[in-house]
Amino acid sequence: MALSRSACAIPQYLSLLVISFLALHQASPSYASDTISPNRSLSGRQNLTSAGGQFVLGFFAPSASSKNYYVGIWYNKISLLTAVWVANREIPVTDTSTSELKISDDGNLVLLDQSKGIIWSTGTRIPSNSTVAVILDDGNLQLRDETNSSQVFWQSFDHPSDTWLPRDKLGLNKATNQLQHLTAWKNKADPAPGIFSLEIDPNGTSQYYIIWNMSQIYWTSGVWNGHIFNLVPEMTKNYIYDFQFVNSSTETYFNYTVKNDSIISRFVLDYATGQIQQLTWMENLKSWMLFWSQPRQQCLVYAICGPFGSCNDISKPFCKCIEGFSVKNQTEWDLGDQSGGCERKTQLNCGRDSSGNSETDDVFFPLSNIKPPDNSQILATVGSDEDCELACLNNCSCTAYSYNATGCFVWHGALLNLQDQYGSDGSTLYLRLAASELQSSRSKKGVVTWIIVGVVVVVVACLAIIQWRRRSRRMIRKSKAVGGTMVPFDYRELQRATNNFSHKLGGGGFGSVFKGSLPDSTVIAVKKLEGLHQGEKQFRTEVSTIGTIQHVNLVRLLGFCSEGSRKLLVYEFMPKGSLDTQLFHSDSTALDWKTRYQIAVGTARGLAYLHEQCRDCIIHCDIKPENIVLDASFVPKVADFGLAKLVGRDFSRVLTTMRGTRGYLAPEWITGVAITAKADVYSYGMMLFEIISGRRNLEQTEGGIAGYFPKLVATRLVADGVESLLDPRLGGEANLEEVERACKLACWCIQDGESCRPTMGQVVQVLEGFLDASMPPIPRSILLAETPEDIRFFYELSSKQSSQSRSNASSSPQTDSTKSNGSGV
Ligand SMILES: *[C@@H]1O[C@H](CO)[C@@H](O)[C@H](O)[C@H]1NC(C)=O
Ligand SMILES: *[C@@H]1O[C@H](CO)[C@@H](O)[C@H](O)[C@H]1NC(C)=O
Ligand SMILES: *[C@@H]1O[C@H](CO)[C@@H](O)[C@H](O)[C@H]1NC(C)=O
Ligand SMILES: *[C@@H]1O[C@H](CO)[C@@H](O)[C@H](O)[C@H]1NC(C)=O
Ligand SMILES: *[C@@H]1O[C@H](CO)[C@@H](O)[C@H](O)[C@H]1NC(C)=O
Ligand SMILES: *[C@@H]1O[C@H](CO)[C@@H](O)[C@H](O)[C@H]1NC(C)=O
Ligand SMILES: *[C@@H]1O[C@H](CO)[C@@H](O)[C@H](O)[C@H]1NC(C)=O
Ligand SMILES: *[C@@H]1O[C@H](CO)[C@@H](O)[C@H](O)[C@H]1NC(C)=O
Ligand SMILES: *[C@@H]1O[C@H](CO)[C@@H](O)[C@H](O)[C@H]1NC(C)=O
Ligand SMILES: *[C@@H]1O[C@H](CO)[C@@H](O)[C@H](O)[C@H]1NC(C)=O
Ligand SMILES: *[C@@H]1O[C@H](CO)[C@@H](O)[C@H](O)[C@H]1NC(C)=O
Ligand SMILES: *[C@@H]1O[C@H](CO)[C@@H](O)[C@H](O)[C@H]1NC(C)=O
Repeated sequence: MALSRSACAIPQYLSLLVISFLALHQASPSYASDTISPNRSLSGRQNLTSAGGQFVLGFFAPSASSKNYYVGIWYNKISLLTAVWVANREIPVTDTSTSELKISDDGNLVLLDQSKGIIWSTGTRIPSNSTVAVILDDGNLQLRDETNSSQVFWQSFDHPSDTWLPRDKLGLNKATNQLQHLTAWKNKADPAPGIFSLEIDPNGTSQYYIIWNMSQIYWTSGVWNGHIFNLVPEMTKNYIYDFQFVNSSTETYFNYTVKNDSIISRFVLDYATGQIQQLTWMENLKSWMLFWSQPRQQCLVYAICGPFGSCNDISKPFCKCIEGFSVKNQTEWDLGDQSGGCERKTQLNCGRDSSGNSETDDVFFPLSNIKPPDNSQILATVGSDEDCELACLNNCSCTAYSYNATGCFVWHGALLNLQDQYGSDGSTLYLRLAASELQSSRSKKGVVTWIIVGVVVVVVACLAIIQWRRRSRRMIRKSKAVGGTMVPFDYRELQRATNNFSHKLGGGGFGSVFKGSLPDSTVIAVKKLEGLHQGEKQFRTEVSTIGTIQHVNLVRLLGFCSEGSRKLLVYEFMPKGSLDTQLFHSDSTALDWKTRYQIAVGTARGLAYLHEQCRDCIIHCDIKPENIVLDASFVPKVADFGLAKLVGRDFSRVLTTMRGTRGYLAPEWITGVAITAKADVYSYGMMLFEIISGRRNLEQTEGGIAGYFPKLVATRLVADGVESLLDPRLGGEANLEEVERACKLACWCIQDGESCRPTMGQVVQVLEGFLDASMPPIPRSILLAETPEDIRFFYELSSKQSSQSRSNASSSPQTDSTKSNGSGV
């Protein structure tokens, strides 16, 4: 297995646009032309190329195995066939050599199938008797008068498929009342209009909507305030794009241009995710890179997993069927269309028995931590859990119920928009299943449960024996320290131990750290927490959870003190201090390469443990050299973990209290997407660069910015080798293979798209040499940083965000949209 570009840069769901091309050669000579005229039609493998050679019009097949062909427009200069427009979306042709795209007698452009029947037409009234169809360099196909090119009767830009190209207007023509909308493909292999569409509000406001099945609006851009759309402030003019909103008496539309012509960029409404995505072609990687998408959270897309499907923003794939259900049409799921959802494995008995009295055959299965579907019905008269269950049981169309303090809620028919692992906001939904279904799954579960119980009993017994032996060998150092559990300290005790907090070791995001020593001369580090607004109970719960997390690469929490507002944590003391002092301070001797590599590996192991092996995934949120401390033999230990919050699933709430540090913050902190463990991977990547170079990534001088190390790596990795990237203090003393591996890995870690970044577990494997890192794509946010201003732009964004978050730290959680700040593009 390899960490490869193919796994990343072309996410599976994008591959619809990557269409295999008919690699057949044309027998007849090609016309060097961009025009279909009355005496020249198109069929077979013929194609038209726009005058400047940007776009091609012709027949294509959506996949290599497909026998269906479509007339479409695709990019001429890129190697992956990517259709931006399709004419006959719904009716494919099977034989291109006998099909024909031609100007018909009434002047329209028509597509004739093998039996010469019209299967697609521009279908407009043409006041001229001589028209031509021309493919233009911006990807627009125009049907116009042969002699007067400004008389345009029809153009593909007015009828977009799923792609919004630069210069294409997306809006409303008030004169003709014509609305341009994007409609996603049905699936990877079928360009027919799918279930998601995007359009401007037909009622005349300036907001754009993404709509499910032409009925449910699940995303809006917010209204145009004259400068930006309220809810997507990042979609604005910047040094790469020019966006423009126009409202005149005849039309309302939005259009954009890419300032640098050599950048190939498009927006597409994706069939698999229901998101509007902005993609840019990376020639050196031969792939499209995802750069921006909305809605940010996958599970906000309406019915994305279909009936009885459950969505999870973090898992991959994000859809699964709930208990007792299985995928309805696997072929469609595999093609990226989950809208069909799931079906019962065992039919319900209710209503099938002619006696009409078969309630006893259905049972309820509790789904916990679920975000229930929206369309619930409240049964006001029902006052208890049992009655609620009975009320549901007595109506055969009732599929689920939930009882809580507000009352009894029931659902009828298909369940849509379920989300699992919804954390503390979730509720328990009782799902109606056939009794036989539950029995079979219970018996399986029962066996598993007993095995687990057995294993746990054995493990506990072993631990107890070990513990007992240890105890009998050693004296318990401190009367309160019982069996490795955490020690509660008195404030005065710690005051004495730290000599009244006189020896400050450092200040972190959560408070200052002081050195101290216990009466038995154990050296400790005491952290005085600041700005905690937690209740006593919650504090103790969280602290004891942190205390149970033990790993050789995580700082060990020994005890705590909680007396009113005085909250302190007691850690083991690390004699070599934090990594930043070892790396950046000129008076310290430079760490040799071997040590640096071990620090990189150890830190990665500690983080992998936090992310993957703890009971709840813990996202550190503030990885930087200051938070990595070193013991006497330079073994790295991650500090401050778990303080941000113990995170189960919904990270958006955490964001408001986050204190990430600029320069290490992943783009999703800025753009407002839900934070996952991949945000730590990003910060780790940034730190890895600093471990390699021995310098801060951004070197600021009085005159401005001297260099941006990640960009240097990204460019030199390709060009002139990695030796030049190494900390000069090492004098070239390093395993260059390891240096290269670390450089590539760091580039992978700082990819803009979370899904492109490796997991911390993969990072460990790469560093240990068990997994190969291929050449990474250059992250766009870094690649596009051309001038010092650009670099500062990307860099400063993160500080804006973090200071904004800080000022809001105590207020109620913000919504995704208001978190976005400034232009993220
Ligand atoms: C267009 O057709 C010509 C020959 O007719 C072929 O050489 C060329 O590759 C085709 N271009 C595309 C983009 O298919
Ligand atoms: C098609 O007709 C146009 C005039 O309508 C003429 O100029 C052109 O040469 C013709 N092309 C061919 C291939 O016959
Ligand atoms: C249509 O074409 C004929 C000649 O082919 C010409 O005499 C006539 O004026 C044209 N009509 C229009 C409406 O252009
Ligand atoms: C071409 O068409 C445009 C728009 O219909 C019109 O304004 C212009 O006069 C026409 N030019 C000629 C030469 O007919
Ligand atoms: C447009 O207005 C009509 C009538 O006021 C309303 O029923 C409909 O929901 C509105 N549509 C949208 C998309 O807001
Ligand atoms: C566009 O302008 C008209 C007046 O010219 C105004 O009534 C309308 O509200 C505007 N529409 C939007 C979407 O701003
Ligand atoms: C979409 O809407 C149509 C009618 O409006 C309905 O027949 C169809 O079942 C809906 N599709 C889904 C997947 O619900
Ligand atoms: C949008 O379209 C109008 C009219 O075609 C054009 O003048 C303007 O330059 C376009 N704006 C951008 C940003 O492309
Ligand atoms: C446009 O982008 C290309 C490739 O990124 C770059 O080489 C070129 O200098 C840019 N041109 C301008 C005018 O910025
Ligand atoms: C599954 O979906 C595919 C593609 O839409 C369709 O051809 C096939 O008949 C479906 N299979 C079943 C069992 O419904
Ligand atoms: C079951 O519930 C549905 C929806 O509330 C209702 O229309 C129907 O009449 C109920 N059936 C019975 C038998 O109560
Ligand atoms: C009870 O459940 C309903 C339906 O899921 C939900 O809307 C409501 O907020 C819940 N009430 C409480 C107090 O949790």
